[in-house]
Amino acid sequence: MHFIQTDNLDIKAIQTILDKANFYQKNTPPKTLQDKIIITAFFENSTRTLSSFEIAAKNLGAKVIRLDISKSSTLKGETMADTAANLNAMNPHAIIIRHKNAGAGEHLARYVDCPIINGGDGAHAHPTQALLDLLTISNHFKGDIKGKRVGIVGDIKNSRVANSNIELLSRFGLDITLIAPPHFLPKTHFKTTQDLKGSIKNLDIIISLRTQTERHNYQIYGSLQDYAKQFCITKNILQDHNVIVLHPGPVHHNIDLDDEVLKDPRCKVLEQVSNGVLIRMAVIEHCIFN
Ligand code: NCD
Repeated sequence: MHFIQTDNLDIKAIQTILDKANFYQKNTPPKTLQDKIIITAFFENSTRTLSSFEIAAKNLGAKVIRLDISKSSTLKGETMADTAANLNAMNPHAIIIRHKNAGAGEHLARYVDCPIINGGDGAHAHPTQALLDLLTISNHFKGDIKGKRVGIVGDIKNSRVANSNIELLSRFGLDITLIAPPHFLPKTHFKTTQDLKGSIKNLDIIISLRTQTERHNYQIYGSLQDYAKQFCITKNILQDHNVIVLHPGPVHHNIDLDDEVLKDPRCKVLEQVSNGVLIRMAVIEHCIFN
């Protein structure tokens, strides 16, 4: 099956994926993908997601072929459809794609016979990020997540991470508040506020986001420093509140998260990265065998 956005999976399938990810944390993974070929095609920059997918696939014994975009024929004007058809002719068992255009994964899926896994498409979706965030939250609260209050802070309008998390976390019964200046808020029926400091006592989880400057056609805010004065997660904001802090990375230091907060035990950023590999192992298996 393809995995383009979080709602491609029902609750039962997601639970199976979370359980499997936790199993892989405690047990040596079997080489279930021994004879499988997986192509990673990242048309947009990535540090975490690309290496996370490749490690995940290799952990299960797959052969991973990375399409070297800087040397690929995309630069010679080859269309996405032609690239896809050619990759498909090499008979891969899955293709993992990241692209600056929303809908790229879905488009690719029309031309191939294997599962397409979306590693992030424009401002649309980043489904494995949302799953690894859900795993991090669920493990912290020992599975008791229904009704937990999550504040998503930052450039929500331009964030595929926010989009995927809003869909997934609300489906699992979390209570969502979007915390951002008006120009970073999407049209939404979820609660919104600009008052981060006042909201903190009513939150169990904060998901902080990077300002997606690459998706702004022009600067729509005064300066990142002005933004940070109101929306940076600092020790002063957190005080001794019982709240965990997530961020998908890359972090804008002292704009999204204060350096002191990055060192705070309530900050789960590196746990998210570890969980990312586990989730992607479970997701790749799920897509190839379903
Ligand atoms: C995110 C992305 O690429 O969408 N990063 C990631 O995958 N870990 C978030 C971001 O770039 O801000």
